Amino acid sequence: MQDITPKPQPRASRLKGRKVVVKFGGSSIGGEGAVQDFAKDIALLASIGIHPIVVHGGGPEISQEMSKRGLKVSKVAGLRVTDDATLQVAAEVLEHINEQLVDALRRAGIRAVGMSGVEDRLLVCMKMHPAVVKDDQGNQMLVDLGHVGEVIEANTAKLDRLVKEGNVPVIYPICASAEGDRMNVNADTAAAHIAKAVKAEEFVLVTDVPGILRDFKDPQSLIREVSLEQLDELIREGVVRDGMIPKVEACRLAVEGGVKAAHMVSGKEKDAIVNQLLSGDNVGTRITK
Ligand SMILES: Nc1ncnc2c1ncn2[C@@H]1O[C@H](COP(=O)(O)OP(=O)(O)O)[C@@H](O)[C@H]1O
Ligand SMILES: [Mg+2]
Repeated sequence: MQDITPKPQPRASRLKGRKVVVKFGGSSIGGEGAVQDFAKDIALLASIGIHPIVVHGGGPEISQEMSKRGLKVSKVAGLRVTDDATLQVAAEVLEHINEQLVDALRRAGIRAVGMSGVEDRLLVCMKMHPAVVKDDQGNQMLVDLGHVGEVIEANTAKLDRLVKEGNVPVIYPICASAEGDRMNVNADTAAAHIAKAVKAEEFVLVTDVPGILRDFKDPQSLIREVSLEQLDELIREGVVRDGMIPKVEACRLAVEGGVKAAHMVSGKEKDAIVNQLLSGDNVGTRITK
């Protein structure tokens, strides 16, 4: 199927027959060959009997397409403010990325099945409450995020069936409310809800940084192991911000929901997903209770 260099994989037998949810980050998708490398990593996991479930975002691509159409990009606490036009662009771009990922996985020998969070009510959401932000003077104000959903229910019967039949589901986070209104859900958050609901053994967030950095301009400052309690401190200190906030909250949700470990790795680093999960070396950040 592919050329795989044998490496010591002490964790492989523990993950055999288990589900692992892998979220592929928007920022890491665009890179040269990144999608192909990602597909190879997923194929390797599947080849040793792990059941991967892929969730992806598309942040940079959505922002790029919005600029092309003359729409203003606005984010609050790492979440995209989503008006009607933004939702339309997000849905189109995510669907397109989904097709690309499914194709790449199929070329790597995987039976990939693309779907959104709307399908079979996979992720039911409600409109998120307005976000509290501080203006330049330090005054608190409320910002309505528009069509941004908060997940209230996960129905994974279809996912479980697909996985059992040997498929790899590839999910993009456009979801719907109980009333059928479409909403944009942060992909990290969507992935965490899925990881929890399918009782995944582990959860991996693939992004454009090696993991949580103490100083995010310095890759050497990578935090390799962190507990949920220590995460609170990193948020309080302002070390974790922007897009990293939904990421650490997603890891918290997954780990508190029974997932044994959550990881962050860089999509730009070759073999990072496989090494982090299987070799026992922390090439990224490992988050446990
Ligand atoms: N402490 C931190 N360590 C690493 N990255 C951080 C940190 N705080 C904020 N970030 C930012 O979070 C970004 C990752 O989130 P995001 O841009 O949403 O990526 P993705 O598309 O993978 O969700 C990094 O590129 C970085 O700019
Ligand atoms: Mg993000």
